[in-house]
Amino acid sequence: MKLNIALLAGDGIGPEVIDQAVKVCDAIAKKYEHHITWKPALTGAAAIDAVGEPYPDETHEICANADAVLFGAIGHPRFDNDPSAKVRPEQGLLKMRQKLGLFANVRPTFTFPSLIDKSPLKRERIEGTDLIILRELTGGIYFGERGRKDDGNTAFDTMTYQRFEIERLAKKGFDFAMKRSKKLCCVDKANVLESSRLWRETVQAMEKDYPEVEVSYEFIDAVAMRLIQWPKGYDVIITANLFGDILTDEASVIAGSMGLMPSSSVGSKVSLYEPIHGSYPQAAGKDIANPLATVLSAAMLFEDMNMTEEAEEIRRVVNKSLAEGYVTEDLADGGKSYKTSEVGDWLASNI
Ligand code: IPM
Ligand code: MN
Repeated sequence: MKLNIALLAGDGIGPEVIDQAVKVCDAIAKKYEHHITWKPALTGAAAIDAVGEPYPDETHEICANADAVLFGAIGHPRFDNDPSAKVRPEQGLLKMRQKLGLFANVRPTFTFPSLIDKSPLKRERIEGTDLIILRELTGGIYFGERGRKDDGNTAFDTMTYQRFEIERLAKKGFDFAMKRSKKLCCVDKANVLESSRLWRETVQAMEKDYPEVEVSYEFIDAVAMRLIQWPKGYDVIITANLFGDILTDEASVIAGSMGLMPSSSVGSKVSLYEPIHGSYPQAAGKDIANPLATVLSAAMLFEDMNMTEEAEEIRRVVNKSLAEGYVTEDLADGGKSYKTSEVGDWLASNI
């Protein structure tokens, strides 16, 4: 099969982890006789420096015409404490999500047998966790009306949802639930927020189309607690943009490391694959970042292309590296560790 993949390395450790995913994908392509054409494009602070904006039109063209997008990370500390910065790298990410119509962010959480003890949570609580958080990605408070009034002394951000936005996200949730354990949990704040009441109403109306799916409704604050108390109580969660942003960072603690969790962002056209971790600027250029979340994101890419064997092969080799201790320093417990690039080479050569 021929694949055109847009390659957005981004900022910080982005380029380093992306390089390893490319090595792994190229090894897969060789083994299974595919042909991948990589189309590199600028994004984030790197794009601001080069052309003055974080998601240039040229990058959008490349992404919109690709079969998939593989993305590293975005963000640079020099923008974080500068409220006067007119363009910020993160705006590129939001613009990209919106322009590519990536309305559903799929963030799985699972554990690796060899890493259970890395989690600060007790083994018996997390062992066997396997859940998916589906975060709405192109609406809600991230994209609502915002601004200042009263001479700048009042600031507001609005959380707005339209029924169709909730429906299309919920549909993905029901579809995932049907393929899994047929349990769906809608997470909201319907005891306070009107937009959450619309979420409930919309999802409730869809229940009749999926009689086999058992749907529950829970409040975000309670889920924040239960998710780490008993993650095995959840299977598929659907939730609004900001709630999902927060819950997915929290959920990564279950796996023991942010460096491990992959994600996909899907819409009606092209899909994007990225690690859930950020650009980790302190580690940039040091060849120490953990590339596994990006490599596992590439596995999700193959899975979505119905290349299940290829995806399985990537997961197999990642598990092998964990089991054999061929890992970066964040996972090495002070023992022997390997460079980012060495882990990438090792994974590719074991395919
Ligand atoms: C994420 C990130 C982004 C978000 C930031 C960088 C804008 O935290 O992908 O979860 O909030 O969506
Ligand atoms: Mn986030």
